[in-house]
Amino acid sequence: MRDDAPAWTAGASSFMQSGLVTTIAILTAAGSGTRLGRDIPKALVEIDGVPLVTHAARRLAASGVVDSIVVTCPPGLASVVADVVARDALVGVPVRVVDGGATRQASVAAGLALAGPDDDVVLVHDAARPFASAALVRRVVSAVRDGHRAVVPGVPVVDTIKTVTDADLPPAPAPSGTGAMGAVVAEPVISTPQRAQLRAVQTPQGFDRALLERAHDAAAHRAVDAPATDDAGLVEALGERVVVVAGEDAALKVTTERDLVLATLYARQAEKDPGDGARPVGGAHARSGADR
Ligand code: CTP
Ligand code: MG
Repeated sequence: MRDDAPAWTAGASSFMQSGLVTTIAILTAAGSGTRLGRDIPKALVEIDGVPLVTHAARRLAASGVVDSIVVTCPPGLASVVADVVARDALVGVPVRVVDGGATRQASVAAGLALAGPDDDVVLVHDAARPFASAALVRRVVSAVRDGHRAVVPGVPVVDTIKTVTDADLPPAPAPSGTGAMGAVVAEPVISTPQRAQLRAVQTPQGFDRALLERAHDAAAHRAVDAPATDDAGLVEALGERVVVVAGEDAALKVTTERDLVLATLYARQAEKDPGDGARPVGGAHARSGADR
């Protein structure tokens, strides 16, 4: 643990008792950024002259609770990624770079393989969320240190969400007198989950290392054909408990050009007001009837 990291005390789980407690962050940056559509991988796209992966690494390091970072990179780009992350003056923790896999799940597994015996806590964070704050990183690690072995940040959702079947239904026949309807694909709705119980989850997600390793081992067979979109899902598949802590707007994932504009806005806001930006979940807030 770094000298300037907070001293963890009450409620610590059994892994705290060894005295040698370190936190490793796996920073996933091996995606190609197809939906962004640039001619370089998304993690290397710059905001204010700094690549997304570097923005993310800076905030992990600034949290004071991350001891080292492993970046998963697109095959062939290890030295480029090392240049922009490991040599950045504001990333003040050791950085290693590893080739990612064909899917995010495979990339995380490649990073996890580099965790050392002293790395009791593992964070998994997307370079595509460049402005997730240091306060959010601390909140997630704190919850793991408090004994929650799988922790995800989440925010209440504003839209009502429907579950649909993936049946690719043929277009409905045109009602008589209205002319041809064209090729409208209609998906049958199965259910409408209670919105107050839904959370849109973000990264960094934090785990007891042994639990995350068990989850990835158990799911290794599906890493390419049916990969998980987040790590907590793999822990849930083991039947183990995952908890949600307050996420934040600034942890938005950059997927499209529009998100780049939004992320830039959050970055500017954070510069002006470096408060913790937490979006509370649970309790009266989530059940509030204000927007019914
Ligand atoms: N990622 C990864 N290895 C992969 C695929 C994705 O490390 N094989 C990382 C991405 O770099 C990103 C995070 O996982 O930081 C979330 O993925 P996503 O937002 O889907 O990014 P991309 O896969 O790069 O984008 P797209 O799906 O549009 O191609
Ligand atoms: Mg992707």
